[in-house]
Amino acid sequence: MSKEANLKASDFGNDFLWGVVIAAAQNEGGYKTEGRGLSIWDQFANKQGKIKGSATPSVACDFYHRYKDDLLLVKALGFKVFRFSIAWSRILPLGIGKINQEGVQFYHRLIDECLKLDLIPYVTLYHWDLPAALEKEGGWTSTHLLKWFSRYVQICTQEYGSKVKNWIVLNEPMGFTSLGYMIGKHAPGKMGLSNFLPAVHNAVMAQAEGGRIIRANVPHANIGTSFSCSEIIPATQNKKDIEAANRIDILLNRLFIEPSLGMGYPSDGFALMDKLYLHNKAWKFTERMRFDFDFIGVQNYFPVVVKYNAVIPIIQASDINAKTRKVPATDMGWEVNPNSFKNIIQQFADYPGVKKIIISENGAFYKDKIINGVINDTNRIQYFQQYLVALLKAKNSGINIAGYFAWTLMDNFEWSEGYHARFGLVHVDFKTQLRTVKQSGHWFRQFLAQ
Ligand code: NOJ
Repeated sequence: MSKEANLKASDFGNDFLWGVVIAAAQNEGGYKTEGRGLSIWDQFANKQGKIKGSATPSVACDFYHRYKDDLLLVKALGFKVFRFSIAWSRILPLGIGKINQEGVQFYHRLIDECLKLDLIPYVTLYHWDLPAALEKEGGWTSTHLLKWFSRYVQICTQEYGSKVKNWIVLNEPMGFTSLGYMIGKHAPGKMGLSNFLPAVHNAVMAQAEGGRIIRANVPHANIGTSFSCSEIIPATQNKKDIEAANRIDILLNRLFIEPSLGMGYPSDGFALMDKLYLHNKAWKFTERMRFDFDFIGVQNYFPVVVKYNAVIPIIQASDINAKTRKVPATDMGWEVNPNSFKNIIQQFADYPGVKKIIISENGAFYKDKIINGVINDTNRIQYFQQYLVALLKAKNSGINIAGYFAWTLMDNFEWSEGYHARFGLVHVDFKTQLRTVKQSGHWFRQFLAQ
């Protein structure tokens, strides 16, 4: 039998944390319910042509009203951890100012329900849904961002800190700063270095400050933050390709973790990084950018193959996609490469300051077919099997990996892809809100039971 078929959850040890993840903007819906303020995604979705199928997150999976049933699904599939995010604009509709008690109570109910079911809540404080009112004032580029974010974190930790011990400060800061403030593909749709660089710096400061606030307010907290990452593979061993790959490694892998470890911003002669340095006089902040996280959330989906490309401004590099290279890929076009998953975990584990790693997201979009009510997503099952075999190898090589959280519980609002890109273990019919467990969900249930 293949290694994949033999794999059992117990191979990872009895304390290993198996979880599943959702995010407020992608799942909750109820975008105006019980006093919630609009987020940048509600606004962005209303701009013509920004999201596939003109989709909006207004209803999404209606998790806001269906959370009890959805948590029963999490339980039925056999997961121990439920990771979700808090929508800032439910707590503070305008981002600052008056607290919305109804929004506050919603997360109390959700947390209480998790605890009742014996699910461990992992709470993400920011998963990309900035209150729209703050974007008017500059959003992540504003010099006030840190003050706004700190108050929000104070409120959340004071409210929920007696019940929630596990916190993730930011979800993929490189994701929301590059897609939202550099290339304009995500909310708020801003572009250019004059937006990107301050957004990066504020996110770096916010992740450390958020950590400090949690530490102060939550006794015995387990504090992490999550990073998107990809193994960067130079297209050839030519010097120019290797240098190009280094620049992309700085951007995609090193930019946010290194300041958090007290190393300041990575530079290695990359002119863009020098700009970041000068722009923010970042050296002054080295100590404030540092925070001693208890764990690092690693989120990996694919490796990136990079070649030198003189015509691309600033980075002078481009990727060679999976299709061109004729390698296996998901329907997102993302290369399936379990070995690169293992390598990137190793790269993050190699930092002396990283104490513990949790794979806080990993998963795949495949075009599911529903036939007689059954979704036989063997490709997704294979994806998980291969990635978990690689994870076990990484763990057995001595890396302190404490858990694996699958992205995602159910099909949901996949940002600028709208609803067509389905990553769920559970299928959602967005017209009727009917949930159907996919074969991959059943596979996980059996795997976790062994
Ligand atoms: C990372 C993001 O955190 C999540 O929101 C997104 O849906 C998945 N990747 C898949 O693209």
